[in-house]
Amino acid sequence: MSSGHWHFRRTPFSQETFGAMVNGPSRAFTLFGPRRMGKTEWLREDLAEIASMYRHRVAYASLWQIETAPLNVLLYRLHEALSPRSFAERLAAWVTSLPIKAKIRTPDGTAEVEIDLSATAPPPSQKDFLLLDAYCQALSDTAKPAFLIFDEVQQLATHPDGKAIVAALRTSLDTAGRGLVSVFTGSSMEGLHAMFSRNDAPFFNFAAPLILEPLGEAFFEHQVRAFRVSFGRDVDRTAARARFAQCDGNPELFQRWLQVLGQSPGLTPEDAARITDEQFSVQQDFDKHWRAMTLIHRQMARMIAEGVHGLFGQGGAERIGKWTPDDIPSKSVRQSAQRWLARNGHIERWDGDWTLADPAFARWVLARPEADFR
Ligand SMILES: Nc1ncnc2c1ncn2[C@@H]1O[C@H](COP(=O)(O)OP(=O)(O)OP(=O)(O)O)[C@@H](O)[C@H]1O
Ligand SMILES: [Mg+2]
Repeated sequence: MSSGHWHFRRTPFSQETFGAMVNGPSRAFTLFGPRRMGKTEWLREDLAEIASMYRHRVAYASLWQIETAPLNVLLYRLHEALSPRSFAERLAAWVTSLPIKAKIRTPDGTAEVEIDLSATAPPPSQKDFLLLDAYCQALSDTAKPAFLIFDEVQQLATHPDGKAIVAALRTSLDTAGRGLVSVFTGSSMEGLHAMFSRNDAPFFNFAAPLILEPLGEAFFEHQVRAFRVSFGRDVDRTAARARFAQCDGNPELFQRWLQVLGQSPGLTPEDAARITDEQFSVQQDFDKHWRAMTLIHRQMARMIAEGVHGLFGQGGAERIGKWTPDDIPSKSVRQSAQRWLARNGHIERWDGDWTLADPAFARWVLARPEADFR
């Protein structure tokens, strides 16, 4: 999370979106957007703040942690949303890790239930699903609909309890009708599509798509000012602009570069960029992912990063021919490599075109030496 003065509020976008969510015909939304573009930060810090300011109740639940029991995480977060708290207190609670066990009060206030949030929790029972429904009903308010924000929901697609949870959640949200606004997002767009966009998806046609506005000039200016506040000097604007463009407007990669440069004033902007990218790729285990790929996986990943047309036809054959002219894999081998990349979360589809899911990984792949593709 970018703290305090580093956080850039997307104010007009947030206000318009909030207005549309409260007054429009739809009550459920899926937030799509490239990786690390600030989806989570926008939901937690901008949308939730506006909703709280207008006295709507807000819950935020991230289903990321595989090692947690997803339904109990939901119950815990919905229970939290019912208790009176300031927005600052809520935000602080959302960004700290969850307890392993917790006591929650039933929405009617008559009983206390102990829930286990760890992975060793028993599978959900009928009672747990009833409790989920009871919380949704308690939060439902047609005059001021409660905002339920679900992050990393793609996890439900693969979790053993996921199917049952999704079905129960869908029923509860449907019953609550206009009293709840639900927003779903995640870090895997393929995973989200699998849950919301395919014909056989459990939430097919359930939510209206929402696209996060890209960060532009106003964000850039804001970060340059934040740099001055943090480090007491100005960053070289030309170099900063070049880096922002190099990161395709990605806030995280740009901020990391500003941080490195701020801490080490002796570094050139180029050195800071190299160090930032190196640190980032180590942290994200890019090298490990690379080693797990076979030659054809790598070639396909690289071609997708390059935007080669006709991956399975002539375009792909010609590109591969430049690396391994004597060994051009057949169409079906290329297709199966592409499916592997998709299954492993490396690539995803935007408007029908495949891209690498993580733009930082795409740049890393583009920088691999030719030897990695032969
Ligand atoms: N509005 C913002 N102002 C300043 N920095 C931001 C903003 N949004 C995002 N960032 C920076 O980018 C980082 C990544 O943001 P965030 O985790 O919200 O992205 P995301 O789209 O949810 O990523 P993922 O696809 O991995 O889920 C943040 O930790 C923060 O450093
Ligand atoms: Mg996120």
